[in-house]
Amino acid sequence: MSFPAKLRRMGTLVLTEIGQLLTLDGPDAVDRTQSHGPGADAAAVKRAEQSARVVSNACLVICDGTVRYAGPRSDAPTLHSLPDPVRQESVGGRLVTPGLIDPHTHLIWAGDRSEEFDLRNCGASYQEIQARGGGILSTVRATTQASDEVLLQSLRKRLRYALQRGVTTCEVKTGYGLYPEAELRLLRIIRHAQEEGDVDVAPTFLCHVPPPELGGADTSERQQFVRSLCAAVPQAKALGATSIDVYCDAGAFTRNEAMQILQAGQQHGLALRCHAEQFTYTGIAEHAARLGARSVEHIEEIDEAGIAALAHAGGVAHLLPGAVLTLRLRVPDARRLLRAGVRVALGSDCNPGSSYTQNLPLMMSLACTQMGLSSAEAWLAVTRHAAQSLGCSDAGVLRAGARGDVVVWDADSPREVCQRLGDPLIQRVYRRGVAVR
Ligand code: NIG
Ligand code: FE
Repeated sequence: MSFPAKLRRMGTLVLTEIGQLLTLDGPDAVDRTQSHGPGADAAAVKRAEQSARVVSNACLVICDGTVRYAGPRSDAPTLHSLPDPVRQESVGGRLVTPGLIDPHTHLIWAGDRSEEFDLRNCGASYQEIQARGGGILSTVRATTQASDEVLLQSLRKRLRYALQRGVTTCEVKTGYGLYPEAELRLLRIIRHAQEEGDVDVAPTFLCHVPPPELGGADTSERQQFVRSLCAAVPQAKALGATSIDVYCDAGAFTRNEAMQILQAGQQHGLALRCHAEQFTYTGIAEHAARLGARSVEHIEEIDEAGIAALAHAGGVAHLLPGAVLTLRLRVPDARRLLRAGVRVALGSDCNPGSSYTQNLPLMMSLACTQMGLSSAEAWLAVTRHAAQSLGCSDAGVLRAGARGDVVVWDADSPREVCQRLGDPLIQRVYRRGVAVR
């Protein structure tokens, strides 16, 4: 991800009087050999706490956008050794963390699904609404009709909104174009927003659902359509996509189709992701993991074989509490994943249908209270583990050499953020050492 010239500043930012600094630079939390016996959960929680590494009475030094020092105040470098001009800012004993990373969003769309919100809450199912041409398909119609400029403006607005809520790195999926040309158009617009550089953007080429007019998976039109998506992968890559994703489910792509799409992505060097086992078990999580998928996402209905394959291959599980809550899905048991040695990340899944939120701290609270993560595990899931999933090792951590992306919280501890159920606790946000809020 390139760093935009407009944010490049010479000089030093020193944050002083940090009550607790969450560095996330301890040893890896995931132990692939871990036991399932008694005490396994407590041991995993302890490892996560060590991995998250909190420093009390700390100081953070960012020089020319990059972290120079993150640690105890007593060992901080002397000011005269730092690049001029040096700005010192006290955070008054507050909590300081890295900028958050949202590894799963659908931020580029047009249109409105508020009617569907009421229909669903009062009894209609997500899939019934889609079968009637609503849901994803209604967003596809609105997105197709919207101009590039309208789509860019709304994407820009959502990225800036994310930044104000502490997200400094954000994955953005296409997916509301359906047809290859339309998906490539969305990638062009995402690239434009990426170049504006408000947030670090990781673009994903998402093959969302097959157009219903093509008929079932056995029709030659549908097979031709899957081939046309595979054929568009080199262009997607040329337009900046770093990952490919496919939604495999009843009413979406079949497992065979999804595997064809993932294989095409693999041939062209994209990271592989998959919307897997959300409503119906298809077995795609296991197959995608074996193919080397970087992440499998949702996985409400995953089975033991899928979990074992994911643990073995080292793929990341993206849990998406917003969609679970909105669609009243089975709540994934995060401890079951952690016990098996699977790395967990959390995303907003922000989209106009199944999860209309950009509030990652709320996702952390929900993952703790509903899915069984400890607060240290939830923090890893929106920083270091999300960064691993996106392949950006200098984000989601505060140590010398990391990006100077920082959030100051009106909270005393990392745990308090998880406890407070989405309360607006963000006091300041810095991107590459520059205050953006
Ligand atoms: O991740 N499950 C598939 N896709 C999206 C929902 C998209 C929509 O409803 O518009 C998801 O939840
Ligand atoms: Fe999604």
